[in-house]
Amino acid sequence: MLASKLPNVGTTIFTRMSQLAMESGALNLSQGFPDFDGPQALREAVGRHIAAGHNQYAPMTGLPALREQVAAKIARCYGRALDPDGEVTITPGATQAIFCAIQALVQPGDEVIVFDPCYDSYEPSVLLAGGRCVHVPLALPGFAIDWQRLADALSDRTRLIILNSPHNPSGALISPVELEQLAALIRDRDIYLVSDEVYEHLVFDGVPHASVLAHEELYQRAFVVSSFGKTYHVTGWKTGYVVAPPALSAELRKVHQYVSFCGVTPLQWALADFMAEHPEHVEELPAFYQAKRDLFCDLLADSRFTFNRAAGTYFQLADYSAIRADLGDVAMAEWLTREHGVAAIPVSVFYQQPPKDLRLVRFCFAKREETLRQAAEKLCAI
Ligand SMILES: Cc1ncc(COP(=O)(O)O)c(C=O)c1O
Repeated sequence: MLASKLPNVGTTIFTRMSQLAMESGALNLSQGFPDFDGPQALREAVGRHIAAGHNQYAPMTGLPALREQVAAKIARCYGRALDPDGEVTITPGATQAIFCAIQALVQPGDEVIVFDPCYDSYEPSVLLAGGRCVHVPLALPGFAIDWQRLADALSDRTRLIILNSPHNPSGALISPVELEQLAALIRDRDIYLVSDEVYEHLVFDGVPHASVLAHEELYQRAFVVSSFGKTYHVTGWKTGYVVAPPALSAELRKVHQYVSFCGVTPLQWALADFMAEHPEHVEELPAFYQAKRDLFCDLLADSRFTFNRAAGTYFQLADYSAIRADLGDVAMAEWLTREHGVAAIPVSVFYQQPPKDLRLVRFCFAKREETLRQAAEKLCAI
C-alpha cells in the first residue's frame, strides 16, 4: 500500500462547500472568487497575444515586461526600488510561489510558525519539505498577533514565519508597528519570512497596506508573495509573483524551474500591457471593494448575525451565536447552504485547534450587487 506523504489531507472545505452550493442551488459566498469578470481590456489582450503568436515558453523568471511593471508598481505603492531581473519572479499563482519559497528554505526537522486561522496550503507545503508547523493562534476577537505566544513558540529550529496580511479569513491587517515588533523579535535569529500579501490592494477605510516590502530590515529576509488573480478579478488565471532579495530569489528559482519552469505566456503579456495602460486599477481597488463590503454589511445590519466590518480582503466574518448557538460552524455552514440558500465557509477549518465555542462563518463579498442583495435578503430572513 502506498504510504501517503500527506495522510491528513482530503478534499478541501472550499471544494466541498462550492459543490454543496451547486447541488443545493445556493448562492455561493463560500470560495473566494468574484462572480464578475476581470477588465475587458485585459481579457481582450490575451486573445490579441495568442493571435500574435505569444504561445511558447516564457522566460523561467517571467516575462521581462511584466517583471518591470511589478517593480514599477512596488516603487509607486511601497517606495522600494527593485531590480526586476534579480528580485521579481512570476509564478503560476501565489500558491505555487509560497510552495517554492517553502521548499527553498525549509530543511528536514525545521519548524515553521503559522498563525491560526491560516490559509490551507501552508502546512502541506511545509510537511512536503520535511518541516513541522508550529501553530500560533491569533488573539481574538481582533485576530492580532499574540506577541507572548509568538515569542514562546520560537526555538532554535524555527526557520520560517509565514505572515498573511490582509488576512484570510478574518480581514485583519498587520500594522507598521507590528512589523517593527516582529523585526525586533527575530533580529538576532536565523529566521526567514514568507509574507503572503495576495490581498495587498484590498484595504479599506483609508488605512494603507503595511507591506513587508516597505520594511527594509524584514525585506532582507523575506519572500513577498502576491496574486494577479486577486488584483485583476481573474483567479482562474493562476498567475502570481514573488519578490525577494537576489540571493533568496536565486534559491526560490531553483525550485520554481523544476515545479513549473514558467507561467503562462499570453497571460503574462496581457497583464504587462494592462498594468502599463491602467496603473490606476490598483488605486481604485480599495474603493471598489469597500463599496461591496459596505453594501453587504449595511444589508446584514438587519439580520441576527453580528460582525465588525472587515479591514481588508474580500471576506466578511459573521458571528451566528444569536441564531444557532447549538451548531458548530461546519454544521452551520451546511445548514445555511441547504436550508437558507447561502453558502459560507466555517472558520474552524483554518485552525489546527479551533477555539472552543467559535461561532463564526466567512462570507465572500467579491460578488455583483444583485448577488449580495439576494444573499443578504436570505440571511436577514433567518
Ligand atoms: C491567503 C491566500 N494566499 C494565497 C492564495 C492563492 O492565490 P493564487 O490563486 O494566486 O494561487 C489565496 C487564495 O484564495 C489566499 O486566500
